[in-house]
Amino acid sequence: MGYRINEDILNNIKQEAIKNHVPILQDVSLDLILTILSIKRPKKILEIGTAVGYSAIQFSRYLEDSIDSKIKTIEINENMYNIAIKNIKDMNLQEKIEVCLEDATTYLDTLDENKESYDVIFIDAAKGQYLKYLKNALRLINKRGIIIADNVLFKGRVLSDYNEHRHRTATNRLREYLKIINEDERLDSHLFKIGDGVAVSIVR
Ligand SMILES: C[S@@+](CC[C@H](N)C(=O)[O-])C[C@H]1O[C@@H](n2cnc3c(N)ncnc32)[C@H](O)[C@@H]1O
Repeated sequence: MGYRINEDILNNIKQEAIKNHVPILQDVSLDLILTILSIKRPKKILEIGTAVGYSAIQFSRYLEDSIDSKIKTIEINENMYNIAIKNIKDMNLQEKIEVCLEDATTYLDTLDENKESYDVIFIDAAKGQYLKYLKNALRLINKRGIIIADNVLFKGRVLSDYNEHRHRTATNRLREYLKIINEDERLDSHLFKIGDGVAVSIVR
């Protein structure tokens, strides 16, 4: 195991998020991702979409057991950011999880792959921006690294023939995301039709 976490505090964070309708990872998707992390034991994780820090805290269980193993997580919403900072401090994980108050759409462009790169990148923010996140993830991911994206089926809309106008752009972009990860020869991708849809892409 990586880092011991206080299950009671974490359960409170989860219940509080559910009560406040914060869209945290569903249990079934979390189980899949934790299984992958437990095999991979990543040293560096990048998360796009922190919310209240629930998934980042969960992921810290399987960080590589070394002083410089770390999770960087990006959140655009100041209120969420402040809650995440508090939750991570309550869990005493502030040395392991760095929360950045940034718009990932532009912030990722500023990261230099020669200075920072990641073993696992988890995409869980604005669905309409997944293609931009993927472009940068492909640049920032290490060889044999894993890019994971949640909500790629967008409540069934991605596989449905008809969608309301307001959901069409995000739906089409998610379809494009799935097409790209399937066709990109650098990737070995799998779509898990669990939860809201989890796409897992392993860099060859
Ligand atoms: C589905 S929630 C993340 C849930 C979290 N990963 C978990 O499972 O505990 C998506 C989060 O992404 C944030 N977000 C949306 N667009 C963003 C962007 N462009 N940059 C950074 N964060 C963004 C939202 O404010 C929201 O808190």
